[in-house]
This record gives sequence, structure tokens and C-alpha cells, in this order.
Amino acid sequence: MVIKCKAAVAWEVDKPLSIEEVEVAPPKAHEVRVKIVATGICGTDDHVLKGSIPNIDYPIIPGHEGAGIVESIGEGVTCVKPGMEGLALSHPHLHESQNLMPDKTSRFTCKGKAIHHFLWISTFSEYTVMPDSAIARIDDDAPLDKVCLFGCGFSTGYGAAINTAKVKPGSTCAIFGLGGVGLSVVVGCKSAGASRIIGIDINKDKFTKARELGATECINPQDFKKPIQEVLLEMTGHGVDYSFEVVGHTDTMVAALVSCHMGSGTCVLVGTPPLGSQLSFDPLLLFTGRTWKGCLIGGWKTKDSIPKLVSGYMEKKFNPDVLITHTLPFDKINEGFELLQSGKSIRTVLVF
Ligand code: APR
Ligand code: ZN
Repeated sequence: MVIKCKAAVAWEVDKPLSIEEVEVAPPKAHEVRVKIVATGICGTDDHVLKGSIPNIDYPIIPGHEGAGIVESIGEGVTCVKPGMEGLALSHPHLHESQNLMPDKTSRFTCKGKAIHHFLWISTFSEYTVMPDSAIARIDDDAPLDKVCLFGCGFSTGYGAAINTAKVKPGSTCAIFGLGGVGLSVVVGCKSAGASRIIGIDINKDKFTKARELGATECINPQDFKKPIQEVLLEMTGHGVDYSFEVVGHTDTMVAALVSCHMGSGTCVLVGTPPLGSQLSFDPLLLFTGRTWKGCLIGGWKTKDSIPKLVSGYMEKKFNPDVLITHTLPFDKINEGFELLQSGKSIRTVLVF
């Protein structure tokens, strides 16, 4: 049965989202229809609105940090049953746009037009359909308006520290960009036992939260005449053991590389690079022994590991709740994007 519900549609690039009534078709084989209860707003959704994500077709329903209740399942689905709590998993395959379901059709229509999916999960819709590979069953009593962050932001940052950099106890870390993802890197560095965690942001309002989560020092590049990489080299003597770029700018990517130790430092790129950008850097930076790495969604094998992260949250091993600065009704989604764009929010969670 087709369900009619509310969704936020991006009809074209550079326009605010419009709340529309959409029709959501039933799930086909190996698909699941989910009633989304809560969804976070991530920087990547903002990139969709601005048209800076490759291979995206419009109109589209964005959103990829959602948690909800399984409403119905298609043939052959065994991992979840209707009524179970689930977390939508975005695992972007860069070779596929995930702009349509795997069978190359859409389950959404609005005003007679087919609407594209985003990363196969489109969580800015009260009901959405996703492949069964994109849903993870989570603890039945997990608070959906909190654990939705495990769908992207928290897992991305925390995993970058734990899985990709493999931060060692007693080490020194530098995190460029203290948004929701960068602060999650801070949490990961702290839980890995780093002894110095240096947060870097051009917005000093981000420092309070960063310190609360474990940053030992916070610096603003605008407070120095010299480039930030030189400041970090002076602060640490030989550079940091691990640096993380969580802004998504090419200049901070190179600055993060320069900031880590020339012989043993590891730099992890977490921020999404601008569309079509190219980097230029002195190859000597790698020649001397630095390691440069990237990761998607924190390097987790999402379907198995993200539910374990949620269980860790239920056992109070870490508390990303402090990342949620705003909770708004779904209809105020554009207000949520304005809060993100103006730097006033860390994470806004929308509830249906
Ligand atoms: N140096 C340091 N910090 C900067 C700079 C800079 N030159 N420019 C911007 N920032 C800070 C912003 O002030 C902001 O606090 O980087 C932070 C980015 O945070 P958000 O916009 O909240 O983004 P977030 O959701 O954390 O994602 C960060 O990771 O997954 C990607 O697409 C995402 O590229 C984005 C990045
Ligand atoms: Zn995201």
C-alpha cells in the first residue's frame, strides 16, 4: 500500500527545501520501509542543497542520519521485522550515485513526479524505503532522537580516530574543524587515551564544547600572524602524532599534513573535499615518512559495527548527546539548515 506523508524535497540546487506531501511506494524484494522518528542535519545534506556533491540528480529527498521503526518489509528480508527499531546506514559507494533504489527506480513521487533518493536512505521523509543492506537493527530501547547521530556524524568522527588513525595512548592529536564530526574525532582521541588534544577552529564559540569533550587546548588560526601549521609545530616541537582535517577545505588539508610529525605522523582526511578540487603540496612532506589517509563513515563495516556502537552508548561508554544543540520539529528543517550555515548549531535533530 502506498503511504502519503511529509517529506522535505530539494527541487533544484540553491533553493530551500520544501515540505511536501509525497507518496511512498511499498518496499520491493530486499527493501524495507521505515517510519523515520528522528533525523540529524549533516554538512553533507547542506552540500546537496548547494549542488556540490557529484552525480546527484534533482528533485531529491536528502537526509542520511535517521533512526526509526520498521513499517513493512519486502520479500526476502530477514534482518528486521515490522515494529523493530532501526538505524539507516549511509555507506556511500562512490561508483554508484545511490540516487535511485538498486533496481534503478524510485519509491517516491510528488505532484506526479518521481523524486530521487539520497544515499539510498533519504531520511528527510516521514516514511522512506531503503535496501535491507542499509538498515541496522539497534537496541529496542535506544532513544531514536539521540542515536540517529550514529548514522553518520558521530560514527564518522569517532571511527576516524579509532579505526583509521588508530590513535595510541599518550599521543598528541590535532583536529581541524570542531563541528559535529570534528568534535566526534575529539571524543575518539580521548577514548583512545591521547594525552594532548588540540582543537582548531576559526569560530571560538566551538571551544567550550570541545573542552567539555576532551580537547586539552583550543586555538583559532585568526589569532596568529603565522600559519597555523607553524603554530602547531612550535606548540609540539616536532608536530603532532595524528592530525585530522574535518573542515573540507584543501588549504586545511595541506595544513593538517604539514602539522603532523615528519617521520611518524599520520594525517586523516575526514572533511568532504570541494567538488572537482585538486591539491597541490610539496611531496617532501610524504617522502620523509608522514602517512596520509582517508576514510568513509569512520571506517566501520557499518551493518555489523554501528549497532555495537549504539549498544556502547546504551552502556554509557560515550555520550554524543552533547553534540545535539538543537531539537526541532521536522517542519522547521530550513531553520535547522540556517543554524548549521551560521555556525550556531553543532547538530540539529529533527523529530517527526
Ligand atoms: N580552520 C579551522 N576550522 C575551520 C576553518 C578553517 N580554515 N573553516 C571552517 N572551520 C570550521 C567551522 O567553523 C566549523 O566549526 O570547521 C567546522 C566545520 O563544521 P560543520 O560545518 O559543522 O561540519 P561537520 O558536520 O562537522 O562536518 C565537517 O566533514 O563529513 C564532512 O561534509 C562534512 O566536510 C564536512 C566535514
Ligand atoms: Zn553525514
